[in-house]
Amino acid sequence: MISMELTKQEQAMLDGKEGYAVRKSMEILVALGEIFGAKDLIKVGSVQVAGVSYHNLGDAGLEFLNELAVDGRVKVLTTLNPAGMDLENWQQLGISPEFAEKQNLVIDAFKRMGIIISCTCTPYLIGNLPLYGEHLAWSESSAVTFANSVLGARTNREGGPSALAAAFVGKTPNYGLHLDENRVPDVHVQVNAELTKLSDWGALGYVIGRKAENKIPYITGIKTAELDELKSFCASVVTYGAKPLFYMKGVTPGAEQQPQIKDKVVIEQSDLKNAYDSINDDVSEIELVCVGCPHCSIKEISEIAELVKGKKVAQGTEFWIATSRSAKHLSDQRGYTAVIEAAGGKFACDTCMAVAPLKGRFKSLATTSAKGCFYSRQNLMKTKMGSMKECVEAAVTGKWNS
Ligand code: F3S
Repeated sequence: MISMELTKQEQAMLDGKEGYAVRKSMEILVALGEIFGAKDLIKVGSVQVAGVSYHNLGDAGLEFLNELAVDGRVKVLTTLNPAGMDLENWQQLGISPEFAEKQNLVIDAFKRMGIIISCTCTPYLIGNLPLYGEHLAWSESSAVTFANSVLGARTNREGGPSALAAAFVGKTPNYGLHLDENRVPDVHVQVNAELTKLSDWGALGYVIGRKAENKIPYITGIKTAELDELKSFCASVVTYGAKPLFYMKGVTPGAEQQPQIKDKVVIEQSDLKNAYDSINDDVSEIELVCVGCPHCSIKEISEIAELVKGKKVAQGTEFWIATSRSAKHLSDQRGYTAVIEAAGGKFACDTCMAVAPLKGRFKSLATTSAKGCFYSRQNLMKTKMGSMKECVEAAVTGKWNS
């Protein structure tokens, strides 16, 4: 006996009238709804599915997807998170044929389901751009945080299976961040620090994530914010502990009126410095420089091309630019790709440093991303975080100099 209210159509889906994948999906959604006390299901405008890398899925995950792909077809716009390799140039990134074969089977299953093979964690840059107040079922924590906080949409942080289930049903259980009462900020964060480079936003996310663990921050004191800075901040703040929703005065739609909040945290310049000290390891030789966590925008790619023009990536170091295939197409047209590749840089489309099978391949990494450092440490790499300029410098010298 379930306590959620289901419409006749939803009950029919649960009874298997629309086939196996929809029935399985309804079982997942109803179970989640019951656990979290949802009254009903709500329609979603789009879905972002994570859990795409064969590295994380393994054969059991592939089998699960193949079972669903027999009759499961998505009902709403559904995009895909990064896979474990560049789907076109996997050899160039040193991926084994055995891995590539399995990864392609995973992608085939998603294709049969009708999912757009976008393979990016920045769906909002490639056409899956939600509206203010729109309900979504997104997985991928950085994108969830961006959707909730920068765009004012509403999504919980879904897991891969629950996002997929929402895509087959077109609905998600109505609980958590879909409801007004769970979107109230509960800590005021006053930022007194100056943010002068992209990685400072990752450092700020680290500090706020740690200080506002499991809370919803209302952030003041930010003078200007660009899209690339916000996507970096979103990735970092949720990785290091905050809920996937913040309000930033001057950025978040509808957040101009500062609420009364008792709990207050002040961030000073010294906090950012301490964040760098925590994120950066004691290492000077850099084996992998990887930028694009979250995936590089075309603006970031243009900046990289400008910085690397006429230089050469050092022997013994690899320089990866993680991005969406859409951004790479624009880069090709503008000639940025030719400049970056002439310098020895490699595009890592469709994938990233966290989901590619990199454990044991590189001992050290330089990046602009605090989230990238978090996951690369799990891949047993020593990490350095800095500006795009410092990362390009590390790529051409093979060393971290600051
Ligand atoms: Fe995206 Fe991978 Fe970073 S999914 S946010 S590039 S860890």
